[in-house]
Amino acid sequence: MSKRVLIIGAGGVGRVVTHKCAQIPEVFGAICLASRTKAKCDVIAGELSREIETAQVDADQVPELVALMRQFKPDLLINVALPYQDLTIMDACLETGVPYVDTANYEPRDVAKFEYHWQWAYRDRFREKGITALLGSGFDPGVTNVFCAYASKHLFDRIDTIDILDCNAGDHGHPFATNFNPEINIREVTANGRYWREGEWCETQPLEKTWDFDYPGVGVKRSYLMYHEEIESLCQNIPNVKRIRFWMTFGEQYLTHLKVLENVGLTRIDPVEFQGQSIVPLQFLKAILPDPGSLGARTKGQTCIGCLIDGEKDGKHRRVFIHNNCNHEACFKEVNAQAVSYTTGVPAMIGAKMILEDRWVRPGVFNIEEFDPDPFMADLNQYGLPWQVKELGNEPLPA
Ligand SMILES: NC(=O)c1ccc[n+]([C@@H]2O[C@H](COP(=O)([O-])OP(=O)(O)OC[C@H]3O[C@@H](n4cnc5c(N)ncnc54)[C@H](OP(=O)(O)O)[C@@H]3O)[C@@H](O)[C@H]2O)c1
Repeated sequence: MSKRVLIIGAGGVGRVVTHKCAQIPEVFGAICLASRTKAKCDVIAGELSREIETAQVDADQVPELVALMRQFKPDLLINVALPYQDLTIMDACLETGVPYVDTANYEPRDVAKFEYHWQWAYRDRFREKGITALLGSGFDPGVTNVFCAYASKHLFDRIDTIDILDCNAGDHGHPFATNFNPEINIREVTANGRYWREGEWCETQPLEKTWDFDYPGVGVKRSYLMYHEEIESLCQNIPNVKRIRFWMTFGEQYLTHLKVLENVGLTRIDPVEFQGQSIVPLQFLKAILPDPGSLGARTKGQTCIGCLIDGEKDGKHRRVFIHNNCNHEACFKEVNAQAVSYTTGVPAMIGAKMILEDRWVRPGVFNIEEFDPDPFMADLNQYGLPWQVKELGNEPLPA
């Protein structure tokens, strides 16, 4: 039976989620796309071959969200606004009894911290209300967590180490632009690196550790160790894993621009006085950088994101790279968005589909690897993100 879905956020990811939900009317019978700027929702609605509703909502305001939810009566809400809105949207879901899906963990505006504890604190309330909150149903976090759960279920008897490797080999032709929300992206990249080893957190300077990794379909790319939020839940949910790290590729040009912006203070997130007004430099920078939503039309090349997992199967050493390759131009042709939005939006739709089809229903707040990976993995193949398992040898991994 088809259901009603409310999508919050009409950015790059919101566009993909809306297109993908609209393609499956037997699951998503009625769709409402709501965001701070209704005009952006209307543009996306105009791209679809079926009717959807659109609405204006300030998702920082719980009463506004509750009013919209009482009026539209969704069976599920997909949050693809910004991480700052996670808690207010979860509050509104609790008040109205609506299941919740997101792609990024809550962040306070004044400190760049990527931690789940604010959302995990909602576990009892969601359990008592009898509704599911699915956290991190994007690509990373999201598909990468599901790859780990799948490897743990089918490919390994014991997992020792996980290296998540994220390569965007796309070229948008701008000297500097970010592939998703610049404010969130730059906060992430300029933070200290952090990884998990033998039960402890190890910290590095920002982008201090590198690895020249050979990405299938792309080739060798320099990858930089960063902290990424999925490490925090995976170290709890993958039994006995000894080390988890996250690596992302950046081009020389991107890093040089970023260094200059940082050195001149434009990546600061504390307010400064400017001509009698208080402004946050990073928010000002976001306003003058290319809108990530505009990159789709000009981006060529592909992404390759996956998990290199090392451990043991049937008494023998095994190492695999489970990954997806996604082509920017093919994404744009299908849904008017580039691959970074696509690889996030498709899993958000699939996570919602898992709940609406009663495959993943458990009252409480859960990270995505806590559910059965099999139906999700099958849907990745069916809805645009096919994956492959590549067997690797046992050359030494970077220390
Ligand atoms: N897990 C992953 O793999 C992954 C990867 C990439 C991104 N993400 C996450 O996906 C989310 C969306 O990213 P994006 O690239 O689509 O960002 P985006 O292009 O900046 O879009 C964000 C949207 O949220 C809306 N919004 C912001 N504040 C709002 C508020 N108070 N009330 C209502 N709407 C509000 C914005 O409205 P306006 O248009 O009015 O500003 C915009 O439409 C982010 O949380 C990002 O961290 C996850």
